[in-house]
Amino acid sequence: MFHNHTNSYDIISMNNFGGNMKIKSLEELKLSGKRVLMRVDFNVPMEEGKITDDNRIKAALKSIKYVIDSNGKLILLSHLGRVKSENDKKKYSLEPVAKRLGELLNKKVIFVPFTRGKFLEQQILEMKNSDVLLIENTRHEDFPEKKESNNDKDLGEYWSSLGDLFVNDAFGTAHRAHASNVGLATNSKESAAGFLMEKEIRLLNQVIQNPVRPLVAVLGGAKVSDKIGVIKNLISIADSIIITGAMAYTFYLAKGYSVGTSLVEKDKTDLAIELMNLAKNKIVLGEDVVTAKEFSNESEKNIRDVNCIPNDEMGMDVGPKTLDIYFKTLSNAKTVIWNGPLGVFEFSRFQNGTKKMAEMLASNRSKINTVVGGGDSAAAVIKFGLESSFYHISTGGGASMELLEGKKLPGIECLDKKKGF
Ligand code: 3PG
Repeated sequence: MFHNHTNSYDIISMNNFGGNMKIKSLEELKLSGKRVLMRVDFNVPMEEGKITDDNRIKAALKSIKYVIDSNGKLILLSHLGRVKSENDKKKYSLEPVAKRLGELLNKKVIFVPFTRGKFLEQQILEMKNSDVLLIENTRHEDFPEKKESNNDKDLGEYWSSLGDLFVNDAFGTAHRAHASNVGLATNSKESAAGFLMEKEIRLLNQVIQNPVRPLVAVLGGAKVSDKIGVIKNLISIADSIIITGAMAYTFYLAKGYSVGTSLVEKDKTDLAIELMNLAKNKIVLGEDVVTAKEFSNESEKNIRDVNCIPNDEMGMDVGPKTLDIYFKTLSNAKTVIWNGPLGVFEFSRFQNGTKKMAEMLASNRSKINTVVGGGDSAAAVIKFGLESSFYHISTGGGASMELLEGKKLPGIECLDKKKGF
C-alpha cells in the first residue's frame, strides 16, 4: 500500500523539476559575462593519481557545457577524499581531474592549485567568457582546521566573493552542510540547482512518491544500522523489500538460525525483529547462501541452507534458491530501488549473486525502471559494464540514501526558491 508519505520533497518533486518549479534552476540564471561558481562532486576514485572511474565528471558535463555555451566564466569547486594531514593534501589533489575534464570538454581547463589567495583571485580576474577554471580540492581547507567541513563562515563568504552566482550540481555532497555548498549558497546573491542535481532529485523522488507499482526495494550492504532509516521509510512505500548482502545475516540470526562466522550485528537482532513485524510480509529473505572459511577470493565455496551454516564458515554470497526467490519477487516489478550488493562482489568467486541481479535488472530494462543508489551497487553495475542498461544510477551514495530515508538535504535546502511560491 502506498500511504500518504509526505516530506519536504513532496513540494520539490511536484512543483519543482516537474511541473511548476520551486528551487531555482540553472536555466533561469543570466550567465553571459558572469563569474559562475559551480559546486560539482568530482570525488572520484583514484589509484596512484589515476582516475579509475570518471562517471561523476561525465555526469556534470551537461551543466558545465551549458555555462560555457551561455558565455559564463565557469569557476568549479569540488572536494576529493578526506583531508586530515599535510600528506593528504598531496594525495588528494584535483589536478588529474582538471586534466580529464579538459579531455572530455576538448578545451583548456585552468587548474589553480590553491583554495584561496592572490594567485587564484588574479586567475579569476583574467578569465574570459566561456573559460573554465577548477579550484584545488575544497577539503584542503580541512587541515589543520576543518574549515570546509565545518562550514566556516569566513570561508563561505570568501569563496562567494570570487563569483557573481552560485550553482550547486553536487548531488553526491548534498547531504553535507559544508562551506562549498551551504556556505556558498547562503552568501551568494543568487543560487540555483544544476541539471544533475535536478535530475537526481526528480528521479529519486519519483520512485518514493509516485512509483509505478509494484515497487520492490533490494537492500544489501554490510550493516543493518546503516540502513535502518531507509528500511523504515520504505516499509510504508515499497510493495516488497528484499533484504540481502551481509545485512541479511542479522535477520537470519534474529530468526534463530546459526550464522557461523558471518558478519552480523548481534546487538541489532531486536531491531531486525521490529522491522520484520513492522513490515508484515513485505520483507523477503533468502533460503541458501554461498559460504567460505576465509574472507578471501581463494577460499573454497560451499552452498548452505541459511539455517545450516557451519560454525567455521561465513556467508559470502547468496545461493541459487535465494536468487530464485528474489527473481520471483521481481518478476512483476515495475519499479526497483537497488542499494547494496548481494555478496562480496569485489571477489570474482563471490560476485555471482550481485552480477546475476545486475544482469536480470538490465535485461528487463523495458519492463522495470531500476534506480540504483550510488556507492557499492553503482560500482558493481559499472564493474559488470551494464550502466547503460539502467533507468538511473545515482551519483550519490550517502545523499541518495538520505533522500530515500525522507530526510531534508542541506545542500538542496540552501538553494534559492523560485519567486512566487
Ligand atoms: C560521496 O562520495 O559519497 C560524496 O562525494 C561525499 O563524500 P564524503 O562522504 O567524503 O562527504
